[in-house]
Amino acid sequence: MGLRHSLHVVPRVPSSGTRKASRTSRSPVKIGPSIPPSLTIPIPIPVPVPIPEALPGFLQFLGYPNSKASIPDLSHPRTAAVFQMTPPLPEHLEPSELGNKSYWDTAYTQELANYTSNTTTEDEGTIWFSDAGAEERMLQFLENLSDEGILRKDDEEVDETEGKQEEEEGEEKHERSAKATRFLDLGTGNGHLLFALREDEWNGEMLGVDYSAQSVKLAKEICARKDDSYHDIQFQEWDLLSSPPGSWLGSGFDVVLDKGTFDAICLSQETDAQGRRICEGYREKVEVLVKKKGGRFLITSCNWTEEELRGWFEGGGSELVYEDKVKYPSFTFGGKTGSKVVTLCFKRG
Ligand SMILES: C[S@@+](CC[C@H](N)C(=O)[O-])C[C@H]1O[C@@H](n2cnc3c(N)ncnc32)[C@H](O)[C@@H]1O
Repeated sequence: MGLRHSLHVVPRVPSSGTRKASRTSRSPVKIGPSIPPSLTIPIPIPVPVPIPEALPGFLQFLGYPNSKASIPDLSHPRTAAVFQMTPPLPEHLEPSELGNKSYWDTAYTQELANYTSNTTTEDEGTIWFSDAGAEERMLQFLENLSDEGILRKDDEEVDETEGKQEEEEGEEKHERSAKATRFLDLGTGNGHLLFALREDEWNGEMLGVDYSAQSVKLAKEICARKDDSYHDIQFQEWDLLSSPPGSWLGSGFDVVLDKGTFDAICLSQETDAQGRRICEGYREKVEVLVKKKGGRFLITSCNWTEEELRGWFEGGGSELVYEDKVKYPSFTFGGKTGSKVVTLCFKRG
């Protein structure tokens, strides 16, 4: 099933002010600051705004010797380059019921009832974005990282001297063990993505989290009916936006997965303590779950374009760096080419 029909909602509304440079001349909906005021340069609304004290000096440094300007000239390439260091956040989606926890509780209660009422059923519930083959493509992408030696399906002994200059004869080889890739699936639903990974012989630790207790119950029921090789996969109720991670976080996950969860969160009209739509806090919550120096965040969305998704996860002090994307068939409509589902991989620096 595709989330697109149910999650893709237009029109969009401007995201809260500060990283937002509206694409149109509409004023952004000012919900609250999300980055330091020194970077708050509304574009292109021509009204006086508070300018940080250091700005005139900085403009002089850039070549504006007498600058007392209150509005920087963003048509000047040097100034524009400075202020575009933090890319604008994409515009918000119009809220819908898919952004509410009660929607998911009801959906998984139904799926759980279907599953438990029939002990022979293979209906494990909705597989999101299956019409685009998203799960298979994510699996293939991870398989490629395994082939490149970046991820590991099993614990391995790694020879640290390998590839270095010829060691002196008799010198001991330095070996250390490298653990199999640890996965965290955010908003795991029925856990299908983790089960598919295990089927592909990824044998490391796996944890699926979801804020719906019914989802966790469903995933555990499905797991229990599978053979022993699946039984170490963990599922836990956890609201990733409102609760800190537990001790399960360890030093972070090698791969954090999101298939449709950010999309759902973007449809919530809830705001956080800073007055922002809650999706604006998603990136900072997720970033800390990804292992430092090389952990990957693989996200699939049907509601955002590649550029928009990058806008959500890069810039503003993000440690996530865009690395690669999964290829989908593209279509052309109204002179624009795109694909209905996007999967991007970010690497934490
Ligand atoms: C579109 S479904 C995707 C489910 C699953 N990832 C899949 O691909 O089948 C979105 C999921 O995100 C979960 N979710 C939404 N907000 C969440 C939050 N704040 N914390 C944890 N899970 C959340 C929902 O309960 C739902 O299971």
